Amino acid sequence: MDIRKHDFGTLYTGERVHLYELSNKKITLFLSTYGATWVALFLPDKNGKKEDILLGYPTLEGYTKNSPYFGVTVGRFANRIGKGAFVVDGTTYHLPINDGQNTLHGGYRGFDKRNWKARPFKTKDTVGVCFELYSPAGDEGFPGNLQAEVRYALTKDHRITCEYRAFVDAPCPVNLTNHAYFNLNGEGRGTILDHEVRLFASQVLEVDQNLLPTGKILSVTDKNHGAFDFTRPKPIGQDIQKIPGGYDHCYVVDGKEGTLRPVAEVYAPLSGRRMRVFSTQPGVQFYTGNFLRNEVGKKGSLYPQHGGFCLETQHFPDSPNRSEFPSAIFGPNRPYREEAYFQFSWES
Ligand code: BGC
Repeated sequence: MDIRKHDFGTLYTGERVHLYELSNKKITLFLSTYGATWVALFLPDKNGKKEDILLGYPTLEGYTKNSPYFGVTVGRFANRIGKGAFVVDGTTYHLPINDGQNTLHGGYRGFDKRNWKARPFKTKDTVGVCFELYSPAGDEGFPGNLQAEVRYALTKDHRITCEYRAFVDAPCPVNLTNHAYFNLNGEGRGTILDHEVRLFASQVLEVDQNLLPTGKILSVTDKNHGAFDFTRPKPIGQDIQKIPGGYDHCYVVDGKEGTLRPVAEVYAPLSGRRMRVFSTQPGVQFYTGNFLRNEVGKKGSLYPQHGGFCLETQHFPDSPNRSEFPSAIFGPNRPYREEAYFQFSWES
């Protein structure tokens, strides 16, 4: 297990951005302090060939420009808040509107656009980085002073573990997640439509045309002729045509929220790579890169529509405005604490 620090560039403010290289014998993960971002993940395929399976950019500039959230840590509130407003303790708070009529991923300058403090750490079986960020009261319209701590680590047994924590001194919605786009055949290698996905979710949130939950929780077999149903492994492309635009939906993870339980399993037959996801969160946003349009990525790679998929473990979108959803209001008496891990394997 090894960890190294590199320079990744300088922001216009003069702040230095660093890249941490974490490796065990088989896997190498690169993490950037800007956005607490997963920049690259090199993994063997069934022939032993190592490739990067994360969509992203070759330089810092790509991330500071208009990135579609490649690999970043999202906060204060991942996903959408309807009309950019919510009420806590009788006070209405307004957030920047950056997605139609709604707020997406924490506003204009969410946690993905901050340079986090980083502290590398090492244990017998892991190497990791503890990222820290202070967000003052009023930041992007949110109440309360918030201190976030996100620990990403690589383990000996090929897991990336994620620990998300936030302490906020006034009640505030919090929803932290990682927004990695994966292509298990290697970034830039076409679409992910052949990947076989299993979701441990028998329900999905219904959304309106702006992808905001309607409040209805559907059985995955209820609508679109079973296209939402991934309870048994199914190629992403099999039914995607039945979902206008593709999958961009929050699934309700089976089992008890707060317990680390299986969320998803993805297998790419071409490369023989497999990923398993576990989380404590109530939901997972399954997003199939619907809005990608030949984005220029690493070393000139082009990312077409469906060139990557995300499994964003999270609280339900718009939960601050939906009392029927599990509460995502945290505060002095309810610190935010969630966990997830992504386990990788490959045929050999
Ligand atoms: C959202 C998509 C959005 C994407 C990139 C996902 O979490 O659900 O609608 O386009 O992030 O911003």
